[in-house]
Amino acid sequence: DWTMGAYREEAIAKIRAQVGDKRVICGLSGGVDSSVAAVLIHEAIGDQLTCVFVDHGLLRLNEAEEVVTMFRDNYNIPLIHADESDLFLGALEGVSDPETKRKIIGGLFIDVFQKYANEIQGAEFLAQGTLYPDVIESVSFSGGPSVTIKSHHNVGGLPEKMGLKLVEPLRELFKDEVRALGRELGLPASFIGRHPFPGPGLAIRCPGEITREKLDILRRADAVYIDQIRRHGLYDQIWQAFAAILPMRTVGVMGDGRTYDFALALRAVTSVDGMTADYYPFTHEFLGETSTRIINEVRGINRVFYDCTSKPPGTIELE
Ligand code: XMP
Repeated sequence: DWTMGAYREEAIAKIRAQVGDKRVICGLSGGVDSSVAAVLIHEAIGDQLTCVFVDHGLLRLNEAEEVVTMFRDNYNIPLIHADESDLFLGALEGVSDPETKRKIIGGLFIDVFQKYANEIQGAEFLAQGTLYPDVIESVSFSGGPSVTIKSHHNVGGLPEKMGLKLVEPLRELFKDEVRALGRELGLPASFIGRHPFPGPGLAIRCPGEITREKLDILRRADAVYIDQIRRHGLYDQIWQAFAAILPMRTVGVMGDGRTYDFALALRAVTSVDGMTADYYPFTHEFLGETSTRIINEVRGINRVFYDCTSKPPGTIELE
């Protein structure tokens, strides 16, 4: 891609000019954005970059292992795997308000980065995979009161006291452009094609209180759902698909017994940039088969709903 080839060269030159011989730490989420940012920055400044992968206990099934393997083995990028799940889940205990959850997670991210930044000699910069839509959804509307649609944890929230300057090489790009840049940088197609995953992770797919039990059920249900989508060859037609565990139990019947388990919502949308989205029109057959599989294979779920809300008026995530 000619345009992305040019963008790549320009971005690399900018990163070198901004960073000089200083060290950069990059928060890796496992998503496409932070991965592309990390590979781009690594190409620009090599081992001056250290990636920090914060495992907040809100990742999907096997996700931490996959990310660590990919960056250490495939890319040789210095990577710290920070298992901070006790810290995050402890702080989130009993919290159900969506914005409070985001603020807690965002605040802890900063604390954790600061902790690791202090251990890296000469680290002066923090790199983030912030995209253009993240930037514009978080700014105040001029003239009126300050309105934040959602407090994206990875935007604008870094206090001066953290003492790190920001490197955000994807700030002008939309999602499809980030994917094109990722291809340009040689990231594997399977990785570039991955659906977006939000920084707050499963926290915003678990409305109401977050518990380890619910997270565990959600992880297993989500894995079955995504497996179904892949088996039916639908993964690449969908912008984002995931399961969310609802804050309610309902009565069901299984074999001879009564069940009283959680309800699961399935979400799948098509979109160009995440700003607007349409719900994906699965066939009834697909939905029925998926519901049966999830209820049979995942203990703790006895009812499955499909979310047929587009954006607007809904958001893609549930919180
Ligand atoms: P919403 O739910 O706002 O999501 O319609 C739009 C896109 O943004 C992702 N998203 C986030 N990504 N940090 C992120 O890095 C966040 O706090 C966050 N909240 C939402 C969401 O997954 C979707 O792709």
